[in-house]
Amino acid sequence: MGKINRKIKFPGKQVLKKLNTRGKILEKLIPYGRQFIDEHDIQAVIEVLRSDLITQGPKTAEFESALCDFTNAGFAVAVNSGTSALHIACMAANIGEGDEVITSPITFVASANCVVYCGGKPVFADIDPKTYNISPEEIEKKINKRTKAVIPVHFAGQSCDMETIQQIVKKAEKKYGHKIFIIEDACHALGSQYKKNKVGSCVFSDMVIMSFHPVKHITTGEGGVVLTNSNELNKKLTMFRSHGITSEPEEILSRDLAFTSLNNPNPWYYEQQTLGYNYRITNIQAALGLSQLEKLSMFSTQRRAIVDKYNTAFKGLESLQIPFELESCNSNFHLYVILFDFAAMGLDRAQLMLLFREKGFNTQVHYIPVHLQYYYRKNFNTDWGDCPNAEDYYKKCLSIPLYPTMDQEDIEMVIKAVVHQASQ
Ligand SMILES: Cc1ncc(COP(=O)(O)O)c(C=O)c1O
Repeated sequence: MGKINRKIKFPGKQVLKKLNTRGKILEKLIPYGRQFIDEHDIQAVIEVLRSDLITQGPKTAEFESALCDFTNAGFAVAVNSGTSALHIACMAANIGEGDEVITSPITFVASANCVVYCGGKPVFADIDPKTYNISPEEIEKKINKRTKAVIPVHFAGQSCDMETIQQIVKKAEKKYGHKIFIIEDACHALGSQYKKNKVGSCVFSDMVIMSFHPVKHITTGEGGVVLTNSNELNKKLTMFRSHGITSEPEEILSRDLAFTSLNNPNPWYYEQQTLGYNYRITNIQAALGLSQLEKLSMFSTQRRAIVDKYNTAFKGLESLQIPFELESCNSNFHLYVILFDFAAMGLDRAQLMLLFREKGFNTQVHYIPVHLQYYYRKNFNTDWGDCPNAEDYYKKCLSIPLYPTMDQEDIEMVIKAVVHQASQ
């Protein structure tokens, strides 16, 4: 990844404008997360727009190669969203009817939906109440002969206990006599480290997923990637990204259609070998991703500085709990989640969110436990009581603003409001 040798200029205050029906600004709110796009990003996109190739092309390959360099993964398959990345990863892991896949309830629904797209059944293993990540012990309880994969989610940026998860999975593979894939959902964790390995290196897994949605560490508008060290998985993922088609002469199966009588490949020939999708990322998005990746270390420094300020300001306040950080991980903090003791504060979460809005900033709940979503309760018979730690976490959690371009005034406003409410 190239070093930045130009000065990055931060924009002025970034706010959401709440408008009335006639477009009049009613209030200005800072969001809980947002992208940072500078002139360099814009120029990178313009350059592609002026070129001949705007769909998948050389910038995609360059972006993939930069992601491999950054994470130390062997292969990268960039796609049009983190959700698509999860879907093709489940396809590459051969998830199908009758298969179970264990994941966390504290995640975005996409981490479980990808299993359902393939006809499999998501199984929710409860979280560790300290880290809010999936608990390895709970995985061990849920793993059985039908388990085909585990999707640990590195919540808010802090890595799951991957070494223990890998040991549990290896033990189960031996016991049940089949491969169990580990697919890390690292949509929150680009730039994080676990036991000195970059998240994305696939040291403890078969595949790692990232998302480039605007609230994430870097953005391509919409976008995602699957990282892997397996040549075989890379080939499958590449095909699933584009309709199940290959044009590589050495991979062709229908030789009668592909080759001339002199055994030369027909120049027009492409071959659909399996069922895939159009999940391609464009050259335009990849150019933006490359330019964003150059700024990742600056983004991480900024995020860490804000987290340090929050930690210092909120430490010792009895009616809230700040994020717990494991020594074995270095989180790139996608989110800053506070657990509030609403009963002690004498108000509920909706009231607190409203009070914070009145002070000038938005907050968000990450997440409604997936097993409590209507769809899962209706179709997979999940309910309250399935994952008590996740449910307890859900009742208290609130994410406050965290993004690299928050200025001192924004940070102080948030701190002042949180300290005020928590000290009532
Ligand atoms: C943990 C997690 N997994 C998957 C996704 C899906 O990524 P995308 O929005 O790029 O499809 C998200 C995005 O919000 C996420 O937070």
